[in-house]
Amino acid sequence: MELELLYEGKAKKVYQSSMNENHLILSYKNDATAFNGEKKAQFTGKGRLNNEISSILFKALEERGIESHFIKQLDSITQMVQKTDIIPLEVVIRNIATGSITKRLAIPEKSPFEPALVELFYKNDELGDPLINDEEAIYLTNLTVENLNEIKEKARSINQVLTEIFATIGVRLIDFKLEFGRNQDGEIILSDEISPDTCRLWDMNTNEKLDKDVFRQGTGDLITVYEEILNRLEEQL
Ligand code: TMP
Repeated sequence: MELELLYEGKAKKVYQSSMNENHLILSYKNDATAFNGEKKAQFTGKGRLNNEISSILFKALEERGIESHFIKQLDSITQMVQKTDIIPLEVVIRNIATGSITKRLAIPEKSPFEPALVELFYKNDELGDPLINDEEAIYLTNLTVENLNEIKEKARSINQVLTEIFATIGVRLIDFKLEFGRNQDGEIILSDEISPDTCRLWDMNTNEKLDKDVFRQGTGDLITVYEEILNRLEEQL
């Protein structure tokens, strides 16, 4: 049966479930983009790897008391999720300095952040996802101050849990990006995906980069490092 395509993003397609009005089907694509879509490529197998990794991580979070939109994995590239209205914020959590913050604030690479930094970016491709402050986030969304604090607290809890999970597979969670949405009951829940596209993951012993930076920086093979993350997660979880 033909599903209704609701939205196509850079990394996923979003379909309406034909069985349940409150469910969506996410289909993970093989496309990789960087620098706001300026750099593009296709990697056979990327969609499957991110779907598998994201499914494992959402399940592991649920087992540890953190709810998300994830319902179940359907096949190698799709998953069923709760329908949410995505809040147009990219919530970035940083444990170790790298990436945009090192340039923006001249912070030396690998400086630790304790406690972790939480940053908000406005999810808007035309504007290039600019960094915004709390007041701007409240102005640009329909969130209250309390809602925004709840999101930031959730992001910190997710950071603790994900840091522990990745530590069990010998990986340091350097930084990552989360998105939240409002489900049909009006609750704010974790949405989107958690994968090497949206996290920086460094091997604890060698500091090897096991995430999309190998594509952003052209320093390695994306599929090889994503497979490494999936294999380690499958062995451990
Ligand atoms: P940044 O250092 O480039 O700001 O990235 C911070 C984290 O957010 C990093 O783990 C990669 C992730 N990220 C996304 O998931 N999507 C994006 O569009 C960007 C710019 C970063």
